[in-house]
Parts: sequence; C-alpha cells; structure tokens
Amino acid sequence: MAYERILTRYQEIPGYTGTMDAYLAHGGYQALAKALQGMQPAEVTEAVKRSGLRGRGGAGFPCGVKWGFIPKNAGKPVYLVCNGDESEPGTFKDRMLIEDEPHQVLEGIILACYAIGCRRAFFYVRGEFGRGAERAQRAIDDAYARGYLGRNILGSDFDLDVVLHRGAGAYICGEETGLLESLEGKRGQPRPKPPFPAVAGLYRCPTVVNNVETLSNLPHIILRGAEWYAAIGPAKSTGPRLFSVSGHVNRPGNYELPMSITLRELIFEQAGGIRGNRRLKAVIPGGSSSPVLTEQHLDVTMDFESLAAAGSMGGSGAVIVMDDRTCMVHVGEIVSRFYHHESCGQCTQCREGTAWLHKVLHRIEHGKGRQEDLDLLLDLCDNMKGKTICVLSDAAAMPIESYLKHFREEFEQHVRERACPFGGAEAF
Ligand SMILES: Cc1cc2nc3c(=O)[nH]c(=O)nc-3n(C[C@H](O)[C@H](O)[C@H](O)COP(=O)(O)O)c2cc1C
Ligand code: SF4
Repeated sequence: MAYERILTRYQEIPGYTGTMDAYLAHGGYQALAKALQGMQPAEVTEAVKRSGLRGRGGAGFPCGVKWGFIPKNAGKPVYLVCNGDESEPGTFKDRMLIEDEPHQVLEGIILACYAIGCRRAFFYVRGEFGRGAERAQRAIDDAYARGYLGRNILGSDFDLDVVLHRGAGAYICGEETGLLESLEGKRGQPRPKPPFPAVAGLYRCPTVVNNVETLSNLPHIILRGAEWYAAIGPAKSTGPRLFSVSGHVNRPGNYELPMSITLRELIFEQAGGIRGNRRLKAVIPGGSSSPVLTEQHLDVTMDFESLAAAGSMGGSGAVIVMDDRTCMVHVGEIVSRFYHHESCGQCTQCREGTAWLHKVLHRIEHGKGRQEDLDLLLDLCDNMKGKTICVLSDAAAMPIESYLKHFREEFEQHVRERACPFGGAEAF
C-alpha cells in the first residue's frame, strides 16, 4: 500500500535526532504559529472536529467532541493531561513517539491547550520510560528557552506551562481518572463517573485527557487542514494510525498506516508474515483487552467500526499475532494473571473475578480442570461486565469469553487429557 507517513515521517529523514533544531528544520511548530497568529481557539476545535480525529488511547472517542464538553466560563482553571502511561499489553507506539519525536507531542499539547483554554498542562509519562521522560523533559526545557512555552508564546497573549510527571508503573494509572488521582498524589484508583473529567477532573476542575498519539496528530491537522486529514482512511476512522505488531511475525514493529488496511495486509505484507511459514491461529487486534480474531477475520479492515462488527475492537492498536503452536488456555492464563495483578481492588466483581479467572484457567492449563469449569468461566465473565467503576473488569472478561467462543474444543481437550496438548509451550 502506497502511503505517505505523517506521524513517523522523521524516520525517513537520514540522521534525524528529534531535537528542537531538527523538528524546526522540518516544519515543526509551524502549526502552532498558524493557530496563534490566525485562528481563534474555537476554530482549532472546529478543525479537529471536522478532521474526524478519534482518540488513540483505547476508546476511539472523537477528540474535538470531547474538547467541546469543557464548560465555557466555569470560573475554574481548565487542565489538559497528555496520557503517556502506555501500559496496555502489546502496545509500544506512544513510547516511540515520546522518545523519537517529543516536540510533535508537545506541539500537539500546546495546540490542544490553546483550543480548550488551558494554561497549565501535565504530561504523564509511564514510570518505566526513563529515556522517554528525559527526552520529553528536554523538549519542554527547549520549548521554554525558545518561546514556545511560558508567557506570551510567539508574541501572542497565550501563556502555557507544561509539567512532566512520571508514573510509578501501574496499568490502572492509564485509565483517565486513575491517572488524575495519581497526578494528585493519591493511589491510582479510578473514580466513579459521572462526573466525567470534562466537568470535574484534575483538582475537580474541567480537564481533558488525551493520548500521546492523539495529540501528535494535531500539528498536521492544523497545518495541512481538516479536509486533507479526513480524506485519509475510512470516513469514520480518519487519519493515520500506529499499529504495534508483535508475536509470531517476521517483522514485529510499529507500522503507521491508514485504518483501511486489512488485517491480512498488515500481517502478511507489512509485518512479513508468520515466522517459519507456520499457520496463523489467532490475532489480538487492539491490545490484550480486545477479543481475539481468527483466520476467518483476515479481510477485516482495521478501523473502529469494522473491528467492532467483527466482534472485537480497535483498542490501543496493538496487534498480537499467534501461530498454530500457541495454546489459547495458556494465553488466557497469562492475560488473566495480568488483570488480576493490575486490578485496583475497589470493585468486588473485578477484584474477585480476575482472581477466579486466573485460578480456573491455571488449573485447566495444568491438567486439573473440570468440564464444569468452562461454563464457570463464562459465568464469571458475565458477572464482571458492565458493573464496575472502570472497564478494567470488562477488559479482563471479554478476551477470555472470546477464547472460549473460538477455541472451546481446545479447552475441552485440556480437561479430557488432563494436560496441555501443546506441552505447556510458551504462549507468546
Ligand atoms: C484500564 C485502562 C487502562 C488504560 N490505559 C491507557 C493508557 O495506557 N494510555 C492511554 O492513552 N489511554 C489508556 N486508557 C484510556 C484512557 O482512560 C482514556 O480514554 C484515554 O487516555 C483518552 O485519550 P484519547 O481520547 O486521546 O484516546 C485506559 C483505559 C482503561 C480502562
Ligand atoms: S473495575 Fe477493577 S480496576 Fe476498575 S475500579 Fe473497579 S476494581 Fe479498580
């Protein structure tokens, strides 16, 4: 597929370093100048709405619409938080954007703040991203030194401070209200909603939380126009998307593509096909929270609507590919262990449900399962969905249901043979 890279265009520039000079030399901060010198904040929001940009953090919510929920003249400060927590298993694209092109993220943050009337923004970077945090901080320092942050940015009356905050390595701090609690110095436990962050977010003030990749799109939308952006990809899933492809492929990595790409093209053309020419068994298309797809779904396009129609979701854009040697019970055991470990424990359905999912999957995988365990798993999943403060509980249940839906015979074989038919092989 012929495609002009946008978010990762710097990868095609030999010797590109991601410094401020490099960014400026290749069109950096021109969008900010255009917005500050010729656009009202509401026009920036309108352009983002027209572009069709949808959030890349997981839910795919329209970005400009979210900004529109910020109340006008609330009499309180408005905050923007850039979510760089990136902890959905399989996802590694925000880290690349933060490390390799931090000024693109920062220009996106500044544009978003201008649009929503924010004067103090927070860049929340996952605790483990040592190099990312260093580069982001250097980008912030350089932007202050050159007048892109601070008072009267580029001679306008717009002021903005950006504060970098490092997380402490908890998946739940990626959930926007868990993140806000963490930023306030408390335990990262999600808040009941409503009120949503747009009304009562950071310090109970109106707040927008946007993902790193979402914000990285903004300079391009403003500079090249909403209509140019909206013409990329399917009508309801516009613009470029970064797919983090991992697992049993020949060329794992981040691939920037329009969402009109099919799963088949992504795996077999971009990522070089299945390692060792083995057969494809299963694909997790949007991070570990998303229901699994199989060979029959290879012609699905990777947009939000088509993935939902196929019974899964676009999620974080992390595509985990598994070949025919993979044991799906073992995958379930690993995935459920992760959610059990990361549950914040506030809700009984999630705290107990994730523990039981892991316990039952562990015993099936290790030859101690019972036939009734299969329906017990489905019953557990049913009780975990739609009932909790945040959707981590749903995210733990949905993949397990899908493994049982597509691979029930494999679960039964484990119970019948009282052992893993794959010999307990490594799942990933
Ligand atoms: C358990 C859980 C973990 C999440 N982790 C992340 C994350 O690591 N990064 C992220 O951007 N969004 C994450 N999200 C989604 C955020 O809550 C939020 O929707 C997102 O940051 C909004 O940005 P967007 O509209 O630009 O996508 C997570 C959601 C849940 C429920
Ligand atoms: S669903 Fe789980 S992670 Fe989310 S608030 Fe409840 S216990 Fe915490």
